[in-house]
Amino acid sequence: MYQILRALLTLLLLVPLALTSDHGTVSSRAFVTGPWSLVQQGTTGVSAMQLVIVSETSAVILDKVEHNPLMVNGHIAWGAELNINTQSVRALNPTSNTWCATGSFIGNGTLVSTAGNPIVITGASGLQAVRLFTPCSDETCDILEDPTRIRLTSPRWYPSSARISDGSMIIIGGSMFGPVYLNSASVNNPTYEFFPPKNINGFNGLQIPMQFLNDTLNANQFPIVKQLPDDTLFIAANQQAMIFDWKTNTEVLRLPDIPNGVRVTSPFSAGSVLLPLTPENNYTPEVMICGGSTISDTQDIFTISAETPASAQCSRIVLTAEGIAAGWSVETMPMARIMTDLIILPDDRIMIVNGAQTGIAGFGSPGADIIDAVGNSFADNPAFTPVIYDPSAAAGSRFSSDGIPASTIARMYHSTATLTPNGTIMLAGSNPNTDFTEMNSTIKYPTEYRLEFYSPAYMSQARPTYTGLPATVDYGSVFRLSITLPSEAKNVSVVLMDFGFATHGVHMDQRSVKLVSELALDKKSLTVTGPPTSALYSPGPAFLFVVTDGGVPSFGHRTIIGTGASPPVDEAAIANMLNETSDPSAGSTWST
Ligand SMILES: *[C@@H]1O[C@H](CO)[C@@H](O)[C@H](O)[C@H]1NC(C)=O
Ligand SMILES: *[C@@H]1O[C@H](CO)[C@@H](O)[C@H](O)[C@H]1NC(C)=O
Ligand SMILES: *[C@@H]1O[C@H](CO)[C@@H](O)[C@H](O)[C@H]1NC(C)=O
Ligand SMILES: *[C@@H]1O[C@H](CO)[C@@H](O)[C@H](O)[C@H]1NC(C)=O
Ligand SMILES: *[C@@H]1O[C@H](CO)[C@@H](O)[C@H](O)[C@H]1NC(C)=O
Ligand SMILES: *[C@@H]1O[C@H](CO)[C@@H](O)[C@H](O)[C@H]1NC(C)=O
Repeated sequence: MYQILRALLTLLLLVPLALTSDHGTVSSRAFVTGPWSLVQQGTTGVSAMQLVIVSETSAVILDKVEHNPLMVNGHIAWGAELNINTQSVRALNPTSNTWCATGSFIGNGTLVSTAGNPIVITGASGLQAVRLFTPCSDETCDILEDPTRIRLTSPRWYPSSARISDGSMIIIGGSMFGPVYLNSASVNNPTYEFFPPKNINGFNGLQIPMQFLNDTLNANQFPIVKQLPDDTLFIAANQQAMIFDWKTNTEVLRLPDIPNGVRVTSPFSAGSVLLPLTPENNYTPEVMICGGSTISDTQDIFTISAETPASAQCSRIVLTAEGIAAGWSVETMPMARIMTDLIILPDDRIMIVNGAQTGIAGFGSPGADIIDAVGNSFADNPAFTPVIYDPSAAAGSRFSSDGIPASTIARMYHSTATLTPNGTIMLAGSNPNTDFTEMNSTIKYPTEYRLEFYSPAYMSQARPTYTGLPATVDYGSVFRLSITLPSEAKNVSVVLMDFGFATHGVHMDQRSVKLVSELALDKKSLTVTGPPTSALYSPGPAFLFVVTDGGVPSFGHRTIIGTGASPPVDEAAIANMLNETSDPSAGSTWST
């Protein structure tokens, strides 16, 4: 009887039950229900410390230089392109160490990987590296580096980045040297810079000091950075947060601290997300940060225990004057999490996945491990069960793991996750080890190459399909899609997504922006208007989903927002940068 009721209920839920409040706005949303599935399929070739979807069918994976079995050009490989559908892997050949680098796409669709580490087995120091990867469909493209011409102004290990409103990339913070488990005044790089370099605010192509990065020592590596619709940046590190304007090089506003003493950046790594921006909420930005730790950032790292519980706190703040005055609102996840990934789903919900329930980010080596280290892992008690967070639900009923199978693969330090164009969530990596470590019974948390794919309930529904997406979509431009809808769909929305560049739980550029759209009466075509401004969605790649009112997405086809042109190139700023800095590949490496 109960099963029949449940089946009936599931059918009913396919019909939208969204309630309309007095103000005419949707106050809650009914999603298709049903079990999720989890499959383990394929391996990554190199360990997935960094993961980024680069086309409708493939992802680029970057690792540290270590003894991976995969080879390229007669030496070990630390980069690969993965076919998401067949799971075949093609080795890539970066020439510098990508260990703890960052990455962002720029306005012409080229992926820019910057920074890294000086340790080499083969190759060059990555500390000042800039690596370009332009996706191709014929598997011939590779990572291009030319440190004599293209490089960072200063060494960076653990910086973050963002694609800004002119299609360039801003690179923020990090340490001058690595590996270091905590940042400190002696190795801090409290500056930011641009790729391509800019002549701006008195800094001709060179790095620009940022006070916030001094104020947030010691735990400010991989700062949390979000491009905001008013063309400023939200930046959080350690317990602090601010609004920053790179155009004028000014800190606009210091925000209230993260509540209850929770630290949110490496090695106390939390997950973070800019909640979906929609016309209904007037594109009002709201940030959510989940997990982290309350461990002191001045405690000697080697006196910390891998069994210390992480934080279960999620903190949300609306970035308007009223929202900031109201401060952070706090919710509690079903379990504590450190090193978690927050993934925006096309149905506007957030998947909280991966990570550990105790300890901190990082790994040691014999004689330099924290208390209770597991092998060399600084964390233990993997968080195997994902949680879905529904921002539209009433407070108190937003978290749920109903119908979601738990994984059995630990995904802790150096693990990643991303949405894929078809709507599945791909999990990869985990490697709390100094070098490639075989999977065997003596090492509890080995180097993890196995891939997993979660299929939310929407994957097993009849799904919308569409054709006619232009190769580029300029701001405010109007285009028409031909669509086929499942019979029960009454209306659809159009969601533009950047899946982000995932590393260390920091998903650079991850974003969801709902577009204004109108469904024809015959429900066979959809008129869509491109994003209104470049601050709302910076020029560059995007995946477009047509989503039913029950939250069932189409396949997300790829386009480029803007014109696809290169971001501004200032030859004089580049010349000055090259004159004032030296080729980092010409020395400074050390071998293991
Ligand atoms: C940051 O601190 C360092 C070392 O104390 C100091 O040299 C530097 O001027 C400071 N930078 C900023 C932007 O405050
Ligand atoms: C297990 O892995 C360790 C570290 O890689 C290695 O030293 C050891 O020989 C391995 N043992 C077996 C049985 O493969
Ligand atoms: C996308 O997912 C659907 C299931 O909803 C499946 O039938 C289809 O083969 C998938 N397409 C690709 C390209 O993976
Ligand atoms: C359909 O959805 C779009 C986008 O969410 C919305 O703008 C429009 O008002 C809806 N139309 C109807 C008839 O509900
Ligand atoms: C994109 O722009 C950058 C900076 O100008 C340039 O280095 C890169 O080659 C461009 N990519 C393509 C595909 O033209
Ligand atoms: C290069 O740098 C040197 C030393 O800082 C300076 O004297 C010279 O004018 C610079 N040349 C150019 C072309 O910027």
